[in-house]
Amino acid sequence: MVLSKAWTLAKHFKGFPKLSDFKQQEVELPNIKDGEVLIEALFLSVDPYMRSYSSISMKEGNIMVGSQVARVVESKNSAFPVGDFVISTAGWTTHSISDGKNLQSLLCNWPEHIPKSVALGTIGMPGLTAYFGLFEVCSLKEGDTVLVNAAAGAVGSSVGQIAKIKGCKVVGCAGTDDKVAYLKQIGFDEAFNYKTVSSLEEALKKASPDGYDCYFDNVGGTFSSVALLQMKQYGRIALCGAISLYNDSAPQLGTYPVVPFILKEFRMEGFIVSRWKDKSEEALKQLMTWVVEGKLKYREQITEGFDNMPAGFLGMLKGENTGKAIIKV
Ligand SMILES: NC(=O)c1ccc[n+]([C@@H]2O[C@H](COP(=O)([O-])OP(=O)(O)OC[C@H]3O[C@@H](n4cnc5c(N)ncnc54)[C@H](OP(=O)(O)O)[C@@H]3O)[C@@H](O)[C@H]2O)c1
Repeated sequence: MVLSKAWTLAKHFKGFPKLSDFKQQEVELPNIKDGEVLIEALFLSVDPYMRSYSSISMKEGNIMVGSQVARVVESKNSAFPVGDFVISTAGWTTHSISDGKNLQSLLCNWPEHIPKSVALGTIGMPGLTAYFGLFEVCSLKEGDTVLVNAAAGAVGSSVGQIAKIKGCKVVGCAGTDDKVAYLKQIGFDEAFNYKTVSSLEEALKKASPDGYDCYFDNVGGTFSSVALLQMKQYGRIALCGAISLYNDSAPQLGTYPVVPFILKEFRMEGFIVSRWKDKSEEALKQLMTWVVEGKLKYREQITEGFDNMPAGFLGMLKGENTGKAIIKV
């Protein structure tokens, strides 16, 4: 008999999520049937999309959605033998039974010296988001000047480093001075703390007086209204996320940058990383190669203990993470 712990959405979030919005439950799992495996979570991911997804697609009482790196502990499915490491979309659970459809094996030959948790970050969904957002949406070219916000996070830190690998100038901003120092350390040309600059407009101008070719937007809201006005002619804007808006209960009113859009002939496109599923494996191999070569650095903010998962999630939304926010069981 295996007891599985799970975190459920006890109450739909109103504004910024609270610890009391989550409830832990314990379930006794049945024996596995032919074709099934029992997996045990080692690392779980907490991501901003969980905040917005919960209001759109979850009911109170549902297990929180999410990905995890897990080990197969019992198997009646030859595709996933005991001891294999998999990425599962089982959600916030310690153990689960799967028929294999929601499992993906880790890249083969995963190097010993790279923690498997990185499959939830730089060599996983956030890394792919950076990769496809830059190459497929921004049509990144050598020599471009790239702006990215939430730059010290999982997606943003990969965006900046990949753009550097491709010979671009990179400007990033983040919410603490320590994060700004980290951005400089991983090769950003310019970085600033968006919370302490006296004028965002001036900070962006100072970082790149000629403006920006590409803007990788993780934040939305007021930041975007200011940044859009500093795009160069034919600027390309990848709308990746809008974390500054996820906790709003009513839409914010913004400025209307329609005229600069027309005159500067911008291209702005929203995207979801799963659009390029068919190219993911090839991209993951490229990300792995860059990591192994030391060109793409990763950092993780580890919260210890499954019981602390809601606190880790809230911490990430507040900006306590540098790099990928991970829960270690
Ligand atoms: N389109 C897709 O397929 C896709 C896939 C993955 C992620 N995303 C989006 O990409 C963005 C980054 O995701 P991630 O997983 O890499 O998260 P992350 O950047 O590792 O963590 C979130 C960060 O957002 C920043 N933040 C929080 N509230 C903010 C606010 N009001 N204004 C500005 N910054 C704020 C915080 O950093 P600071 O200290 O800098 O404030 C925090 O550390 C999110 O918007 C997410 O929804 C989109």
